[in-house]
Amino acid sequence: MDLIGGRVESNAQAIGAAVGFAERVIAWQLEHGRHDLPWQKSRDPYAIWVAEIMLQQTQVATVIPYYRRFMQRFPDLAALASASGDDVLELWSGLGYYSRARNLQRAALELMRMHRGKFPRTAAAIGELPGVGRSTAGAIAALAFGARHAVLDGNVKRVLCRCFAVDGDPSGGATERALWSLAERLLPRQHVQAYIQGMMDLGATVCMRRRPQCARCPLAAQCIARRLGRVDELPRTRRRVPLPQRDVVMLVLHHRAQVLLERRPASGIWGGLWSLPESVPGEDPRPLCARRFGAHVLDITPLPAVRHGFTHFRLRIEPLRIDVDALDTRVAEPGLAWWPIEEARTAALPAPIRRILERE
Ligand code: ADE
Repeated sequence: MDLIGGRVESNAQAIGAAVGFAERVIAWQLEHGRHDLPWQKSRDPYAIWVAEIMLQQTQVATVIPYYRRFMQRFPDLAALASASGDDVLELWSGLGYYSRARNLQRAALELMRMHRGKFPRTAAAIGELPGVGRSTAGAIAALAFGARHAVLDGNVKRVLCRCFAVDGDPSGGATERALWSLAERLLPRQHVQAYIQGMMDLGATVCMRRRPQCARCPLAAQCIARRLGRVDELPRTRRRVPLPQRDVVMLVLHHRAQVLLERRPASGIWGGLWSLPESVPGEDPRPLCARRFGAHVLDITPLPAVRHGFTHFRLRIEPLRIDVDALDTRVAEPGLAWWPIEEARTAALPAPIRRILERE
């Protein structure tokens, strides 16, 4: 059996690592896996879809409170499809990767309009929804419908890379293709839900990136990386180049217990969210305040800097509190709005902007 095209130590070892694999994962999941996550109470594909989208780039502990609020407000496809974009972003605010929220709502609208509110049942059709890739489609089909589909998120990749000593960068190209093929061959005929959940649980709670708990692992006896003393070096990570830093000044304009927010363009970073107007470090913000906001500056106070990491760069925000009076309302642009400060804190804001306003 050529499990993974020469990328494991040897095929004989790979066969050994595959023997009883799914059975062990299933038995472990039933006894030691997670059974009380909020989305596990349901087989409703909508509920599982929302969870899987939230879990794409975010850890379980962070997702849970967001998931509960989201499901309470939008319990089904119809509720999500008829919500305003702002309402959806407001509930997503702080969770990051906001295109996920926009895609969810777009998909809900599409399903209501074109499929009479019926959630698709096959992984292929689920994978057509915006924001749903192969792994997420497999997870939804398996967890909601018991369909026999593999899942290959970061946690599952780590378990497979270690157990089968897979070299190479698992996030693309030939190694990722080989991992998909391995994941599919390991799928059991029965108890797919427990198996999929078990693989995700193992990766999250036992086979962690740092300090894995091999003593508690049901696959320890057959794990090739463990036998070779390579657990710490697998999976291989791309060499990290230091991310560039972008510096920006953000203006916290105050006028009579109100604060000025600016809506971000619909696409791109923080797309559609409310943020603070920006300025350039080292530049006097007064002319900008007069020109764009018709505001006369009374006082400027620098606030502590805030840092935020994105996938491709790091952002360093220097907030300036600016107290203004004598507003000339004729110069206000669309996309700018004065918000009562308490209300502004609950708007659809990115996490670092919320932090700035909460410190105020
Ligand atoms: N990560 C992605 N999907 C998950 C799920 N269903 N349960 C726990 N963690 C996950």
